[in-house]
Amino acid sequence: MLWQLPLGTWLTWKIVRGLCTVDELKLLVSNCTGGRPKMGCAKGKKRWAGFQGFKSCWKPPSGKQKNSQLISLFKSKGLSVLDMVALSGGHTIGFSHCMEFMPGIYSYNKTFDIDPTMNQDYALSLRGPCPRKNLDPTVVALNDVTTAFIFDNAYGGNLQKGLGLLSTDQMLGVDSLTRPYVNIMARDQQIFFNYFVKAMIKMSNIGVKTGSNGEIRSDCGSFNG
Ligand code: HEM
Repeated sequence: MLWQLPLGTWLTWKIVRGLCTVDELKLLVSNCTGGRPKMGCAKGKKRWAGFQGFKSCWKPPSGKQKNSQLISLFKSKGLSVLDMVALSGGHTIGFSHCMEFMPGIYSYNKTFDIDPTMNQDYALSLRGPCPRKNLDPTVVALNDVTTAFIFDNAYGGNLQKGLGLLSTDQMLGVDSLTRPYVNIMARDQQIFFNYFVKAMIKMSNIGVKTGSNGEIRSDCGSFNG
């Protein structure tokens, strides 16, 4: 895996990839330094038996989607544009593989090789570890280039400066439907935390099963039996 330090300094490391279970997410968040949103967990809820953790309970959309598609997807799940922006703030931690953000830094469209809304130095710095040819599929970059291990609102500030790693993140700071929310959350961390917690609770109620369709798990991230 590759570790990205601000704007182009890189160290390589091998790690096992994948933050896939609720417990790992909790562990990561609790290991982060600095402030973090305090979130109550609705216990004893019946979950779909196939729930295997955060990513598989509701597969995150691909990083290549357009903002309008994302908004529709979130709406179809009962989540608002505000929820979408707040939840995307989850990218204040974690990593993304090169393949996920390369569409923004190579052959972006017919006119621009690099997404013109991105900070161009940042985009170029990502090309080093993620070459078009002979790409190492295990290489990853930090989702939050400013404060990678702190659950904070620096991600919002990044989007204001064109430092969004995934195109879906970068677009949030550009599109007039989402930018106002990015600005609010970038300005005030507590507001970001409040919106994030509300949206996470809303999301955790999607697809909750009742009766014999589900099971109440003793361990959030795995089947009982
Ligand atoms: C807006 C919709 C979302 C999109 C399009 C999206 C997309 C992605 C993509 C493409 C990756 C990189 C995966 C990889 O390379 O392995 C990623 C990673 C991640 N996402 Fe999202 N995501 C979304 C929502 C969320 C939400 C709601 C959260 C949490 C609240 C979240 C938390 C994370 C974390 C923590 C990682 C890092 C995983 C790791 O380090 O292995 N994402 N996301």
